[in-house]
Amino acid sequence: MGKILVAYYSRPGENYVNGQIRRLETGNTARAASIVAKLTDGDLFEIAQTQPYADSYDRCTAQAQADQRGNVRPPLKSWPVLEGYGVIYLGYPNYWNTMPMAVFTFLEGLDFRGKTIHPFCTHEGSGMGSSERDIRRLVPEAMVTRGLAIRGSDAGNCKKEVERWIQETKA
Ligand SMILES: Cc1cc2nc3c(=O)[nH]c(=O)nc-3n(C[C@H](O)[C@H](O)[C@H](O)COP(=O)(O)O)c2cc1C
Repeated sequence: MGKILVAYYSRPGENYVNGQIRRLETGNTARAASIVAKLTDGDLFEIAQTQPYADSYDRCTAQAQADQRGNVRPPLKSWPVLEGYGVIYLGYPNYWNTMPMAVFTFLEGLDFRGKTIHPFCTHEGSGMGSSERDIRRLVPEAMVTRGLAIRGSDAGNCKKEVERWIQETKA
């Protein structure tokens, strides 16, 4: 099977939590990803764009929406070497019903032949949105399993549901 990689995108800073703007030191998906990494004994990799979106929630949403509308592929700070990894847990926040565009960059820039991707996202109500379908379209060479959607506000406290899902992904 090889090693396990837990690759995630997440943005600390201002965010909406249960309808209120709050400043998060660690992004929701980063918190969920560290739980996934602990439970799978996986290696963590952060998908970071060279020009991060703004700390301000309003500016970030404007930037991210412009990138989505323009079908932009934001350049990444660094890339993992996938050799030796058979399984990739891929985490991201739901941005307008799909993944941030930097995750599109990530998926298109690597060779996922023979790999299995288990997607998980954090969200404020939209669940996985169209992200699983989008991943399958971007990397038809990978096997993509059913994802796990975690409420952003539950991200630090999702060990039980993550544990259950990981068991499912192994079944
Ligand atoms: C630009 C942007 C777009 C978002 N779009 C959605 C959305 O369409 N549906 C949804 O449920 N949540 C949406 N959210 C909320 C995030 O998915 C949620 O807060 C997530 O937990 C943030 O993860 P992070 O802290 O790891 O970045 C959006 C947040 C941002 C910043």
